Amino acid sequence: MLDGLALKNQTLGFVPTMGALHEGHLSLIDKGLQENAKMVVSIFVNPTQFDNASDLKKYPRTLESDIEMLKSLSEDILVYAPTVEDVYGDAIASETFDFDGLEHQMEGKFRKGHFDGVGTIVKRLFEIVKPDFAYFGEKDFQQLRIIQKLVEKHNLGVTVVGCDIFRAEDGLAMSSRNQRLTKEHREVAPFIFQTLTAAKAHFGTENAEEVTKWVEEQFKKHELLELEYFTIADEETLQPVETKEKSKSYRAFIAVFAGDIRLIDNIALN
Ligand code: PAF
Repeated sequence: MLDGLALKNQTLGFVPTMGALHEGHLSLIDKGLQENAKMVVSIFVNPTQFDNASDLKKYPRTLESDIEMLKSLSEDILVYAPTVEDVYGDAIASETFDFDGLEHQMEGKFRKGHFDGVGTIVKRLFEIVKPDFAYFGEKDFQQLRIIQKLVEKHNLGVTVVGCDIFRAEDGLAMSSRNQRLTKEHREVAPFIFQTLTAAKAHFGTENAEEVTKWVEEQFKKHELLELEYFTIADEETLQPVETKEKSKSYRAFIAVFAGDIRLIDNIALN
């Protein structure tokens, strides 16, 4: 796509999305527009990364308004919105990847096959779009690390840029899934980030096990939110921390159910 740009020594940026665009996506696209001559935004709800058929079925799809929004944003944006058949033909299946262990924790543990699906689609999109830079939000920090690994292992020649989590004013991390929260669940959802922030303060003086226990207790007391996991992991390897080392950076990761909507978030701890 757009090979001619290279001749003019201009770069192509890329933001892959599953649509239902929100301010988090827009912040990635905005950064990309500042740093590149053209941007491609893909909109594709990728079936192979869903471990739950009902989640795939209910995933918000707002293609027309997404395209309208992107058109009004800038003339330098090209939208790529393939069908499932365009991408997969009649064999909707993932490749199997080895991401050096990054894939076995957290999301990988609780959503079987998820990262094979993400790896398959992102590799395919990178091969089609051929961007110089690709932008990913840190809300999906494990995904970001896995895509960096994918690029490194498969020599995909794309620079992966990680971008800060975009939060609503009350702290809730932006996600397409937020649209599906009931009013009640939306009201209490900021509790997730509040708890992460408090956990960060606890990690100053307590070990990972103590902090994890404390977080689990907070959610046990909560009537509307159910904790799936809370893990403190090494930011580089994503392996759960056993003993804290000064030279390492850690991050806390969380997944929570608000009714049947699953929300994830994370916070840097040092
Ligand atoms: O983060 C997402 O929205 C998706 O996982 C991605 C990267 C677009 C792949 O389908």
